[in-house]
Amino acid sequence: MCGPVTKENRLIRKNSAYMINLSRGERMNNFIPYGKQYIDKDDIDSAAEVLGSDFITTGPKVKEFEQSICNFCNCKYAVSVSSGTAALHIASLSILKPFDKVLVTPNTFLSTVNVIIYTGAIPVFIDIDNEGNIDLDACTRKLEKDNSIKALYGIHFSGNPLNQEKLKHIKSKFKIAILEDCAHSLGAYYKNIQAASCKNSDISILSFHPVKHITTGEGGAVTTNKKRIFKKLTALRNHGIIKENFKNKGMAFDEKGNLNPWYYEMHYPGFNYRITDFQCALGISQIKKLEGFLKLRKQIAQNYDKAFLDNDIIKPLYTYKENSAYHLYVIRIDFSKLTITKAELFNLARKNNIGFQVHYIPVYKQPYYQKLGYSSLRLENTEKYYNEALSIPIYPALNQKEQEIVIDFLLDAVERFKK
Ligand SMILES: Cc1ncc(COP(=O)(O)O)c(C=O)c1O
Repeated sequence: MCGPVTKENRLIRKNSAYMINLSRGERMNNFIPYGKQYIDKDDIDSAAEVLGSDFITTGPKVKEFEQSICNFCNCKYAVSVSSGTAALHIASLSILKPFDKVLVTPNTFLSTVNVIIYTGAIPVFIDIDNEGNIDLDACTRKLEKDNSIKALYGIHFSGNPLNQEKLKHIKSKFKIAILEDCAHSLGAYYKNIQAASCKNSDISILSFHPVKHITTGEGGAVTTNKKRIFKKLTALRNHGIIKENFKNKGMAFDEKGNLNPWYYEMHYPGFNYRITDFQCALGISQIKKLEGFLKLRKQIAQNYDKAFLDNDIIKPLYTYKENSAYHLYVIRIDFSKLTITKAELFNLARKNNIGFQVHYIPVYKQPYYQKLGYSSLRLENTEKYYNEALSIPIYPALNQKEQEIVIDFLLDAVERFKK
């Protein structure tokens, strides 16, 4: 079921003894999570080497990691930070103003929307399409009716990139700011446009949380092609500190015109969102394996697709796409044909040592957003999708036997609980 013995499979096998040691807790009770990191000896050695060096916070590995991101994503600038959420926060401060209205997907992790609130802007939730992404046609219709909208935030849900032609059309017609949340899509591409290349957007973000394609423990990055935005991001990451274009010349220079070498200025308050050098060393080591990770994820997606092909109750969210980065593999289950509820199936899977997850609870259903004024909002596709969707395990080291356990569990369950 796992396909041919590829270079990537050999890589996993070569390192599997090491990995079993690292994840002993979970392996001992044979639990199969929905996602997890793959860390090998090279990764550990790379991080350990930096821990023994002079720089453990910002040092040379930060720039090197950012260059690797630029090379991989085909963008001009990358600013690495302490999490994907930090990336979203400083990205938002770079493109939004208070009271800006922002079109945003409700099918995302909380932080994609929370950062709009952090900046004092206003989320406008748009329904999703049949593949879980923000419906770009619905965005266009909204923009045609409401010229007060200033931005659009979309994610490439599960790794499936947004339609770049539609994004380009929106950008050129409505001249709004566009942020692509690429937390799920490192390595995805739309035709020849790489995710996070910002070809048709102002800014993109990545997350390096352990369930993502590559990890730095916690970590994230913002990418852009715009120098002005890049400069703002680097300042915001580090308390708002800048070391050029000083406003206070009397403080910056001495009476002979020498620059005071200790001097810095702050023009707007920033944060400590720095990532460490040893995290970046891990990131550099991980990104070298990214192509292999992507191949393994795609192989698993193809295996799942094949297993559910003829099933009339379980449907993959979309049939196999070579250009998806498969951060998630989502199935939709028609519970109206079953005597078991989604919660019961989820709990039964847990009892069988299989970890499912639900991506996502529609963000506007959160009590905070309900109280903020979204309590009467009903987005039909989003809510139908939420009732049916289940993310099943996918990660590079998920082996053939584990994939079969997941497939057999699901096929057995729908057979057993059919009405
Ligand atoms: C779509 C999306 N955006 C943003 C984030 C936030 O990333 P982080 O966990 O690195 O803060 C996540 C995390 O899961 C995510 O899935």
